[in-house]
Amino acid sequence: METPNKKNITMRLLLSILTIVTLALTSTVMAQDKVEITIESNDRMQFNMDEIKVEAGQTVVLTLVHTGKLPKTAMGHNWVLLTQGTDINKFGAAAAKFADNSYIPEETDQVIANTDIIGGGQETTIEFTAPEAGTYDFICSFPGHYAMMKGKFIVE
Ligand code: CU
Repeated sequence: METPNKKNITMRLLLSILTIVTLALTSTVMAQDKVEITIESNDRMQFNMDEIKVEAGQTVVLTLVHTGKLPKTAMGHNWVLLTQGTDINKFGAAAAKFADNSYIPEETDQVIANTDIIGGGQETTIEFTAPEAGTYDFICSFPGHYAMMKGKFIVE
């Protein structure tokens, strides 16, 4: 028969194991809920990645960095996530008229998320929820940039 002391030690051990398992599970879930992405842009009209992968429903914390030196009026960049089926050329042409709105057409329903326009040496961060699974286009909508500055945003 066990002494009360032994029972106590067994209970404490079980509680410790339970605590560790709970903490491990909690941190795993949190890591999956949120994903942080940093994408760089430069004075040569380039993003440093053409593919971004996330999971549906994840909170995406995206930071756009401009590693160049040129001002935003000359070499401004933003990061724009478009809905599926959006024609990049048509969207880009329409966006060019909205310099005062970070080159995002007002009242558009073709933008899932976007950053402001930034210039050399600046950075900006946005947070949004990843849409349903599928492949989406991202672009920079500064006039003329979308021809080179674009990529795929893949939601799994
Ligand atoms: Cu750009």
